[in-house]
Amino acid sequence: MNGQELGGSFALGPWRVRRAGYGAMQLAGDGVFGPPRDRGEALRVLRAGVAAGVNHIDTAQYYGAGTVNELIREALHPYPDDLAIVSKVAARDARGAPLRPREADELRHGIEDNLVTLGATRLAAVNLRVMDPAEPPGSRFDAQLAALVRASEEGLIGGVGLSNISRRHLLRAAAQTEIVCVQNLFNVADQRSADVLAECEARNVAFVPFCPLGLPGEERRRLLTDPVLAEVAARLGATPVQVALAWLLDLAPNILLIPGTRTRAHLAENLGAAGVRLDDAARTDLARRFPAARAAGVQSGSLDA
Ligand SMILES: NC(=O)c1ccc[n+]([C@@H]2O[C@H](COP(=O)([O-])OP(=O)(O)OC[C@H]3O[C@@H](n4cnc5c(N)ncnc54)[C@H](OP(=O)(O)O)[C@@H]3O)[C@@H](O)[C@H]2O)c1
Repeated sequence: MNGQELGGSFALGPWRVRRAGYGAMQLAGDGVFGPPRDRGEALRVLRAGVAAGVNHIDTAQYYGAGTVNELIREALHPYPDDLAIVSKVAARDARGAPLRPREADELRHGIEDNLVTLGATRLAAVNLRVMDPAEPPGSRFDAQLAALVRASEEGLIGGVGLSNISRRHLLRAAAQTEIVCVQNLFNVADQRSADVLAECEARNVAFVPFCPLGLPGEERRRLLTDPVLAEVAARLGATPVQVALAWLLDLAPNILLIPGTRTRAHLAENLGAAGVRLDDAARTDLARRFPAARAAGVQSGSLDA
């Protein structure tokens, strides 16, 4: 596959990445803990993604914990020059409490841990993962952001990103530093982050939806068995998964995909979404079935990943 087949490219700070990327979270064992069920296949999935042109991989030190980064290193190190590995850090145990004295240090250590397990000297970007997007950003958020800005100034990370945020977080952060990407829950059936996406588009910031196929469990099952999605897919000669992903690529040029999978078969299907072109009838059918009006407001932030 060439870059065009992966949906073209978009800027991720100083990097330019293909729009169809890969999220590595599921490569860990069940529940994102411990080693994978099939280590060989996990390594093959990573290598197949890069061989197909993927140059944007999302990860986190706490996937596994450490396991996913180690798999990425084993599969792909020494890394191709154009491969952007993006991670995230979060003070996971603090929920709305005043800034703890060592919290900025913990974020810094989180970045360093990623570099060690990935065997890298620099990450393309690191997202500050906010725990509760409904909590208004204040001095604690600023201090966390400042820790990432320092890491960027010191060359540990190429750019600063945000995750699980409201538009208010984005506006406040963008007033303090350049934000290169935002990673929020977003898919055709859950467009509550539409305001964040619009703000990102206006600012040329990459918007990277997580759960592009819906939240795990019942919500994903309902989306992927939706009759309208199935009808559109059949008409376009694609699968429902591909239409759900193609809808995202079609929606805005700054959307970058990172669907995750443990299998090469699903990887190929997901990357194939970049070759699916929605027509006006498909856009209309999907807009009727999944109205964006349901979307207003801040996302729940219920997925802790
Ligand atoms: N910032 C955050 O807070 C946050 C939160 C969640 C995720 N993330 C990142 O975003 C990435 C994507 O998120 P996600 O939750 O959607 O993905 P994910 O956790 O990577 O899982 C995707 C799920 O969908 C299934 N799937 C993938 N392709 C499929 C296909 N073609 N057909 C049927 N099932 C398919 C996978 O099962 P199979 O393995 O069987 O294919 C897997 O269970 C993650 O990998 C992670 O890097 C970030």
